[in-house]
Amino acid sequence: MNLDYQYTASWLKEQLPQIPSVAMILGTGLNAIAEQSEIRAQIPYAEIPGFVSTTAPEHKGNLILGELKGIPMIFLQGRFHYYEGYPMPMVVFPTRVLAALGIRTLIVTNASGSLRENLSPASLVLITDHINFMGTNPLIGTNDDSLGERFPSMNNPYDQQYLEQCEKIAQHKGIPLHKGVYIAVSGPSLETKAECAAFASWGADLVGMSTVPEVIVARHSQMRVLGFSIVTNYSNLFHNQAHSQEEIRHNAEKASANLLPIIAEFVQNIHFS
Ligand code: HPA
Repeated sequence: MNLDYQYTASWLKEQLPQIPSVAMILGTGLNAIAEQSEIRAQIPYAEIPGFVSTTAPEHKGNLILGELKGIPMIFLQGRFHYYEGYPMPMVVFPTRVLAALGIRTLIVTNASGSLRENLSPASLVLITDHINFMGTNPLIGTNDDSLGERFPSMNNPYDQQYLEQCEKIAQHKGIPLHKGVYIAVSGPSLETKAECAAFASWGADLVGMSTVPEVIVARHSQMRVLGFSIVTNYSNLFHNQAHSQEEIRHNAEKASANLLPIIAEFVQNIHFS
């Protein structure tokens, strides 16, 4: 397994006509966002040194350079999950490569189960904070001091200014946008009712199996992070049935229609000093 992110970043610099300052990782059911941009270049993960193929449903596995209203962005269609059996360094490898490319702002997205009755399926939620309950941490091991510090702060990992900007954009556009705390579990089994009740009592609003490793690594490299979750189902706190992948895809697509206009407006207004 080749995990040389500097090498992969140099390789990508040769393939892509330009390197933007913003990247977005697209989770379950959100691939279409990249396809609605003006696509300038598209590279399948299978061709990118060090990238593996994603086995998760609804994760396409392409790196896309696209423009949203003239603003260039890198889109990663799909991610590698811990539950797929990939070791943590592999899960966060694409984020490390984005940092090595010089990406300054990382937008992360995911699908989640709701731990709150008022966050119904197809809700769009701004992630305000997270709880890492995956049982591991992507920074375990020797620290690369050239990337970041040994004990990086996780005080407000989700950029406060970005949160305010997105709330204003949503309000202005009349798009319902909730806020919530995301708890990451390893999966792949879904949560029991007792686990959901525990997570809700800890202050979590949403539960999912991704994103937190990427955010930890992004903050280690001083990237500014914006996170969105789309609620694809109520967690087991609220019902007694299993949910289908079909239901999850349907609700993800419904919520993603509201996400694109917020992102398009947000990237118009990011200023890099
Ligand atoms: N639990 C964990 N991960 C998820 C869920 C869920 O209910 N829905 C979508 N991803």
